[in-house]
Amino acid sequence: MMTTAVTARAHTNIALVKYWGKADATLMLPQTSSLSLTLDQFYTDTTVAFDPTLTADQVTVNQVRLDEHASRKVRHVLDLVRAQANRADFARVSSTNHVPMAAGLASSASAFAALAGAASRAAGLDLSSRDLSRLARRGSGSATRSIFGGFVEWHAGHDDASSYAEPLIDPVTWPIAMVALVLDPHRKKVSSRQGMQTSVVTSPYYPAWKQVVAHDLAVIKPAILDQDFTTVGEILETNAMRMHALTLSANPAYSYFNGATLQAMQTVRDLRATGVACYYTLDAGPNLKIFCQVADLPAITARFRQDLGAEQVIVAHPGPGLSWR
Ligand code: PMV
Repeated sequence: MMTTAVTARAHTNIALVKYWGKADATLMLPQTSSLSLTLDQFYTDTTVAFDPTLTADQVTVNQVRLDEHASRKVRHVLDLVRAQANRADFARVSSTNHVPMAAGLASSASAFAALAGAASRAAGLDLSSRDLSRLARRGSGSATRSIFGGFVEWHAGHDDASSYAEPLIDPVTWPIAMVALVLDPHRKKVSSRQGMQTSVVTSPYYPAWKQVVAHDLAVIKPAILDQDFTTVGEILETNAMRMHALTLSANPAYSYFNGATLQAMQTVRDLRATGVACYYTLDAGPNLKIFCQVADLPAITARFRQDLGAEQVIVAHPGPGLSWR
């Protein structure tokens, strides 16, 4: 049976308490829980249609057809959907990432969340948000959280059923923003998948990281609910640095920082010293994201636009969860 095409949209998210390490690579269970903020500016639209006349899945991203290797994670999620829907036909998948030009921001979170939404409905499934979150998890860990808007927690769980995300607050009325700095638009050299595995296996600091995450989650959740900007900022900045300490302490060591990353970190500290409250975080790449209050956006964007150029500074706000078009 040919199905009609279904299109879903999901936004990317930035982790405030990071996920860095799997406990089970097949089920994509993480070592720890994590917490993020979904962003309005960056999203993926994905259309899926199953078609019995196809002899293989066809996957197109930003109008470029992916080969078998590049499409393997997408096909893995499609296989899970087919198994749940009890069908065997292949699908046509077309995905567009709406991420500002060369922003170098991770799109796997929005991509796999949108895929879970579009593929499940196209296959005739009507999954709950929790089950969509579990399905997105099988494509990319951070996608588990992109099913939801606002502040979102991914509960690590201990098996496929218990590892899913849940919104902490959505929608967010707190006037906060995230300023994304484009410091290097190129693809990361060490994939998060490979990097986090090296950290789990070789960093002597990994047991300490698990304690850090437990502590940070316990402190940041009430601080978010209280709109305690300073506590949230301090936790997200120290958490990011401690995650990146797992890259430097791995064997072989690796790093996602470049010279511009270190300079921008110093500028954030300089801004703070002059009374502009702001805190940075970053994922598996060199681009900094700066957490701030909306009232301080003019001072922060002016400073970085002067240093980097206007197009390298993108302002994002809390964004929504998965939707269908
Ligand atoms: O979703 P993945 O497997 O690409 O891992 C994402 C890891 C970080 O972005 C660095 C942290 C996080 O929690 O999103």
